[in-house]
Amino acid sequence: MVGTSPSPCEFDVPFEATPVTARLKLVMDPGESTRRLRVGMRLDKYRLVKKLGEGGFATVYSAHDTIEDRDVALKIPESHSSDDHQSADDLQREVRIMASLSHESILPLKDARYIDGHFVMVFPLGEETLHDRLGRRMARATTLDYVRQMTSAVAYAHERRVLHRDIKPENFILFPNSKICLTDFGLARIERGRHAVSASGTLGYIAPEQAMGKPTYRSDVFSLGLVIYRMLSGSLPEYPFEAPLPSYAKLRRGLNQEFVDWIRKSMDPKPLKRFRDGVAMANALDRIKSLTVPGSATGTTSTRSTRHRTRRVA
Ligand SMILES: Nc1ncnc2c1ncn2[C@@H]1O[C@H](COP(=O)(O)OP(=O)(O)O)[C@@H](O)[C@H]1O
Ligand SMILES: [Mg+2]
Repeated sequence: MVGTSPSPCEFDVPFEATPVTARLKLVMDPGESTRRLRVGMRLDKYRLVKKLGEGGFATVYSAHDTIEDRDVALKIPESHSSDDHQSADDLQREVRIMASLSHESILPLKDARYIDGHFVMVFPLGEETLHDRLGRRMARATTLDYVRQMTSAVAYAHERRVLHRDIKPENFILFPNSKICLTDFGLARIERGRHAVSASGTLGYIAPEQAMGKPTYRSDVFSLGLVIYRMLSGSLPEYPFEAPLPSYAKLRRGLNQEFVDWIRKSMDPKPLKRFRDGVAMANALDRIKSLTVPGSATGTTSTRSTRHRTRRVA
C-alpha cells in the first residue's frame, strides 16, 4: 500500500538533538537468534515476499504486514562484525536523518527497530524505481511532474541542511498517481560548515568536485540536473559534461528555452555556475511560467507546485 499524503515523522526529534548515548549497534547478542533471511519467512508481523534490491550494505525486501494487511518495503542491513563501528554509525545517521525529514516527495520512514536480531527499517512499498521506469516511454507531462517533485524533495532536504550525496534514478521510488519519492540517505550528511569529506556517490551521476572528495549542496544540484537531463533526453552525459551534450536536440524538443537553460545551469561542470542549492534551483523552476513551448503537442505543464521555499540555506 502506498500513502498519497505526507505521513508525519514518527521520530520527531531534531537530528542534532539526538543524544549521543542512544547509539545503535548493528550486531546483536551472540545468544540472540539471527536467522538467515529468506523469502517466505516471518519477521515478527512481516512476511518477506520478494527481494527488491541488494546493495553492499543492506537488502531491501517487499513484505506483507500481516496485522495491518498491507505491503511494505523492509530495508535490512547485513549483519556485521562487532567492531564495524563505521557501518553502525552510517546506519544510525541514515535512520535519524530519514526520521527527521517529513516531505511528500521523500520516502517516509515508518518504523525502525530490531526484530529477531535484525535491524529493520520499514517504508511504504513503491511500484518501481525511476531507473526501472526509464526503460519505458514516459509522457512529457508525467516527466515534468516528476521533475517538480524531485526538485522539491532536494530543496526540502537542503533546507534542513541535509546533503544527499547519492542522487540517481535508483534512489527515486515511484508510487501510484505519478508520485515519486527520494530515498536512500545512506550516504547523506548533515552539513555543518566546511570539512573534508571522503569521495562517495555513484559514478555516472556524481559531480566532478564530489568525485574529488568535496561534495556541497551544488553537487546534489548537479546530480539532480543530470538525472533530469537523462529523463528528458534519454541520454546520460559523461565527464567532462561539456557541449556537445548527447541527444541535446531531443532534450530541447517542445521545451521552453528557459527550462532548458535551467537544466544546463544545474549540471554545469563548474560548481559556482550552478544553483547554490536545491532551494535556489526549485525557486528558479517555480519562476518559469511554462516548462513547455506554449501550444506544443509534447504535453502540458504540471499543476503541482514546488511550494514552500521562501528561505535560503546558508
Ligand atoms: N520503498 C521501496 N519500494 C520499492 N522498492 C524499494 C523501496 N526502497 C528500496 N527499494 C529497492 O531497493 C533498492 C535499494 O534500496 P536503497 O534504499 O536505495 O538501498 P541501498 O543503500 O542498498 O542502495 C532500490 O534501488 C529499489 O530497487
Ligand atoms: Mg540506493
